Amino acid sequence: MTRRKQVYEGKAKVMFEGPEPGTLVQYFKDDATAFNAQKRGTITGKGVINNRISEFLMTKLADIGIPTHFVRRLNMREQLVRQVEIIPIEVVIRNVVAGSLAQRLGIAEGTPLPRSIVEYYYKNDKLGDPMVSEEHITCFGWAATQDLDEIMQMSLRINDFLSGLFLGIGIRLIYFKLEFGRLYDEHDQMRLVLADEISPDNCRLWDVKTNEKLDKDRFRRDLGKVEEAYQEVARRLGILPEGAPGDVKGTATVQ
Ligand SMILES: Nc1ncnc2c1ncn2[C@@H]1O[C@H](COP(=O)(O)OP(=O)(O)OP(=O)(O)O)[C@@H](O)[C@H]1O
Ligand SMILES: [Mg+2]
Repeated sequence: MTRRKQVYEGKAKVMFEGPEPGTLVQYFKDDATAFNAQKRGTITGKGVINNRISEFLMTKLADIGIPTHFVRRLNMREQLVRQVEIIPIEVVIRNVVAGSLAQRLGIAEGTPLPRSIVEYYYKNDKLGDPMVSEEHITCFGWAATQDLDEIMQMSLRINDFLSGLFLGIGIRLIYFKLEFGRLYDEHDQMRLVLADEISPDNCRLWDVKTNEKLDKDRFRRDLGKVEEAYQEVARRLGILPEGAPGDVKGTATVQ
């Protein structure tokens, strides 16, 4: 069997060389990790759903003028993206206190924030993705001040758009994580683009009425009905055919 060259295998995805130079194929796995990969498991069908959700959200964001790495979905588990130089920063945008913010500062989960907060974490698994400030990012050359400003502006705009989109389907966007990359054109002009994925793996999504968690937190906290939560988000977004859960499984070996 001919296999494309694997560029990188992460915890949730595998990146393969794409059909044309400057492209990658992003393959979505069912593997799930939490607590900096100390907890590992499988969420059946997650890869198929995240591929669809990320396609849907990136396409919507492109429609409002946010540049993204997304080119097109190839099959159940794969999408074609533009290869970028990933900025080694995870950008977290928060609307409601939850997760590490609740823990670190002792503020009750669910407390709404008077305004959205943007946080930065240095992408380094060995160090446990430590939180860093703008000063660290510019001082160590991970991103220039101007680029960081643009990243923050884009992140807030993405947050406004996605918060509204999710609210429309009865979901509160509590917080989420984004990754950005540098894309160079033929004249060596650099553009910052949204990369990686947007899915229930890296968004905290709560049902508006019940506060039920509809994201990877169900896996982290052993709340059960993990697969169902991912399916529910896809269903509400209108991208999962009703009554066709069999479709979600896909084949683990599609290459
Ligand atoms: N367009 C792109 N070009 C190059 N790399 C990308 C692009 N989009 C995402 N990536 C990178 O590909 C990897 C995707 O794999 P995955 O999300 O499984 O990684 P991970 O285990 O979360 O590890 P990491 O801590 O590196 O994100 C990530 O390292 C991500 O930064
Ligand atoms: Mg990742």
